[in-house]
Formats: sequence, structure tokens, C-alpha cells
Amino acid sequence: MQEKETIVTGEYILIKALENGVTIIGLTRGRDTKFHHSEKMDKGEVMVAQFTEHTSAMKIRGRAQVYTKHGVVEAGN
Ligand code: TRP
Repeated sequence: MQEKETIVTGEYILIKALENGVTIIGLTRGRDTKFHHSEKMDKGEVMVAQFTEHTSAMKIRGRAQVYTKHGVVEAGN
């Protein structure tokens, strides 16, 4: 329970789309790794997102800036 609370109250990341049609894909936590959600973003849109007990990884397709505590990284170029 403590672990679950820690996971769902984790820090947020920001994803800013630099072109139309950027896709964010959520991958399931646990032994299986499956796509469970995908979200399309248009240029200039910003997604504020958090990892949860359901999502342990995200895949980003297209040009986007990703802001995390590790810094800013640009995807898609
Ligand atoms: N189901 C995997 C897990 O919970 C998902 C995952 C997390 C993953 N990090 C990854 C898959 C890195 C590939 C690479 O651990």
C-alpha cells in the first residue's frame, strides 16, 4: 500500500509537442509490457503526466520536448 501511494503521488513530467501528431504511449507496469493507452498531441500542446501503478514507462513518437527531473530531452530528431 505504501508503495502504491508512493508510485501514484510521484512527480509529474511534462511533454510538449513540437509537431502535430505526436503520440504518447503508456506501457503497463509488471511482468508483461503492453500498450494500454495512447494519446495524440498537436503542436504546442503540453501534457502533464505522472507514472502510476498501471503505467511504468512511456514511449513518445514524434518531435517533443520532455521535461523531467533529469532535465529536458528532445525526442524525434
Ligand atoms: N512492464 C515493464 C515494467 O513494469 C515495463 C517497463 C518499465 C519497461 N521500464 C521498461 C519495458 C524499460 C522496457 C524497457 O518493468
